[in-house]
Amino acid sequence: MSARTVLPLVKTVTTVTALTALVLVTTGCTSTKTAGSGGGSQISLVTEGKLTTCTHLPYEPFQFRKGNEVVGFDVDIVDLVAKDLKVTQEIVDTPFEGIQTGEDLNAGKCDLAAAGMTITPVREQNLDFSGPYFDATQALIAKKGSPYISLASLKGKKLGVQQGTTGETYAKKNGAGVETVQFEDVALLLTAVKTGQVDAAINDNGVLFEYVRKNADTAVTAEFDTGEKYGIAVRTGNTALRKKIDEVVKAARADGRYDALYKKWFPAAPKK
Ligand code: ARG
Repeated sequence: MSARTVLPLVKTVTTVTALTALVLVTTGCTSTKTAGSGGGSQISLVTEGKLTTCTHLPYEPFQFRKGNEVVGFDVDIVDLVAKDLKVTQEIVDTPFEGIQTGEDLNAGKCDLAAAGMTITPVREQNLDFSGPYFDATQALIAKKGSPYISLASLKGKKLGVQQGTTGETYAKKNGAGVETVQFEDVALLLTAVKTGQVDAAINDNGVLFEYVRKNADTAVTAEFDTGEKYGIAVRTGNTALRKKIDEVVKAARADGRYDALYKKWFPAAPKK
């Protein structure tokens, strides 16, 4: 398995943005030829020899720290792309907001974003998505035995949401009278459920099912059929890389590598 470095979270986003833009203008991107069958299309990488991924940790089992490494389903999928390009993956941990708005990609902070991110029409205006690689839906998590089994049951109660996510949007749209409390990441969100700081929380089913599997005092109490699909994002117009991702995921689905990864990270899930 390839070595992965996690870069520290970059706090001065605006400064970095301006600086990176300048560097890109004056020096251009470094580039690498693709080895695939794509007919010689050129893929530019922000750092030579690396496929740099923006993500927001933790989002187990899609991306999370295990010892000094970042591992997960998304990490393994992107590793397949990196392998095909004969480079190694480097992961940048950065707030979800900058990922989903396309800001990080535009700033050249990374080549792609893989963050269990749902394909939405709004996001598509600001970045380009690969084809769907995973299905998801919103779900509710609460303490085991709690009465919060729907948004209606949470009227006048506190519902934790993760900032900038589809779960937040869904709760605000469909949870009339529910008080939403915003959290920066899913670790803080789920801790708030455990400690009773919020009565329940909304997030993607895959992440919540993994959490309840390891935290028997919590339960998934509802699933909302939001029919979401995850995509890997690239900067708007980075068609060469987007096509390469699609080509690799398609091949992995066809030859069993995708299924093997699915089994590895979702051992309890029924076969897709
Ligand atoms: N699927 C949801 C969305 O796209 C949540 C993604 C959060 N991902 C993360 N790595 N924190 O809004």
